[in-house]
Order: sequence, then C-alpha cells, then structure tokens
Amino acid sequence: MDNLAKAAEAMRSAQHIIVFTGAGVSAGSGIPTFRDDLTGLWERRDPQRLETAQAFRENPALVWGWYLWRRQQVMQAKPNAAHQAIHRLSGSERNVTVVTQNIDDLHERAGNQEVLHLHGSLMRPKCFACHRFIVGPLVFPIIPAEGALIEPPRCRRCNGRMRPAIVWFGEDLPPGVWKAASQAARQCDILLSIGTSGVVRPAADLPDIALASGAVVIHVNNVDVSMNGPNEIMLIGPAEKILPQLIALTLT
Ligand code: APR
Repeated sequence: MDNLAKAAEAMRSAQHIIVFTGAGVSAGSGIPTFRDDLTGLWERRDPQRLETAQAFRENPALVWGWYLWRRQQVMQAKPNAAHQAIHRLSGSERNVTVVTQNIDDLHERAGNQEVLHLHGSLMRPKCFACHRFIVGPLVFPIIPAEGALIEPPRCRRCNGRMRPAIVWFGEDLPPGVWKAASQAARQCDILLSIGTSGVVRPAADLPDIALASGAVVIHVNNVDVSMNGPNEIMLIGPAEKILPQLIALTLT
C-alpha cells in the first residue's frame, strides 16, 4: 500500500484530526514562504529588521509599510485547492481543528471560521502601547512597492502607534491559542502537518506532542521532513495537489 492510501486509511478511522499548517499551504496561492531557497521572504531580508518589537520602535514606518505590503499581497491572493480540501474535511462528521502558523486569512476565505492562529493575523491591527485591537474600520492605503515607508495610524484610545497583531520574534504566542492547540494535539488521533519547515518553536512542537500522545502524524511537504518514526507518514509533493487527493480518498 502506498503512503497516500495508508494516510487515507488512517484518516478514515480518525475521529479527531488536527490540521496544522505553515507557509507551504499558501505557496500555491502565490504567497512567498519564509525559508524556501531563493523564493523565501528571509532569503531577501533580515527578519530581525522587520519582525521584532525593537525594529518597530526604531523604524515604525518601515515595519508598518512592510506589513501593509504583505497584507496587500494576501488580499490579492485566493485560497488554493489545499485550503478548499481542508474546508471539505472540516465539513465531514469528524472533529477537525485547524491550527495555522500563517498570518493570512486564506483558511477563513476557504470557509474555515474557527482557525487557531498561533502567530496572529495580518487582518486586524492592534495598538503597540495599550495592546487593544483597532476599533472600527481602518482604511488601508495602496502600497506602491515593497519597502514603502508608511507611518502607522494612531490608536483612538491612547494615541499609541498601531502595529500588526502578529507574534514577532522574541514575543510569546497568544496564551489561549497555544493552550487550545497543544491540548488538541494531546487528544487528537491524527495531526496533518502541512507545508512547514518545523523550525520555529513552540509551534513546531505540535507534531511531537501528538506523536508522544500516540497519534499518527501525516506530513505533506515538497521535501521529506519526516523523522521516519513508526507513526509518521510522509506525503511528498505540493499541498495544493496532495491534499485534494488525500481528502477525496478520506471522504469516499
Ligand atoms: N506544498 C507543500 N509544502 C510546501 C510548498 C507546497 N506548495 N511550498 C513550500 N513548502 C514547504 C517547504 O518545503 C518548507 O518546508 O513549506 C515549508 C515552508 O517553511 P517556512 O518557509 O519555514 O514556513 P513555516 O514553516 O510556516 O515558518 C514558520 O517561521 O518566520 C516564522 O512566523 C513565521 O510562521 C512562520 C514560522
């Protein structure tokens, strides 16, 4: 039996499935990943200059402009076949929990409403000073090109600068989100790990937590990221191709 058939057989008998996604699930929508050779965002930039609170303090216009550009890229992208297959799986009678490291809203636009965003989201900014989310609509300017310097708007409550509500390097994950995700990983039958390099903790610990609790981990990635454990199944290929096949076999 090939790995795809093995994975589908495991999925069919599972009651609680966690779908854990990384940047690779959105690559098929044209959104750059972080670490892929030559195409990854960090191949061309230093994350320390853009993805830390210190970077924002030193140059708020550079960091805010960078996030507006990334948000604009996301708004121009569409959910791909992988996001849509995940939504179909969620519609089956199983208990499916979607946990993502991604800050885009493509799972939501594919129809998944309850998504656990471990690293936050680009969609709703919050105040750098009082940490409260923005109230009311925010008009986002059109960003002419990457690297545009845009002064962040001010908080209506305390006049602090608005910042993207995402988790920067050196910051803690939103406590309630991590608790829910790690609890689900301890209780699931299968954790489907899609398009992640597994290098950023604690998010990358979720597959290990699931394995330690006796679950099966199915990896979907362009490259072999499996540790070849007895309860791991490795499906090599693009998520936008593999997932529709896997979910179709699961739901038949
Ligand atoms: N299908 C499946 N996997 C893919 C595809 C695809 N079409 N394209 C790329 N991949 C794989 C790559 O092989 C790689 O293993 O997706 C993974 C992307 O890895 P990263 O770029 O490191 O993204 P991710 O794992 O989500 O990064 C985790 O790091 O910078 C932080 O906060 C950021 O959430 C991010 C975290």
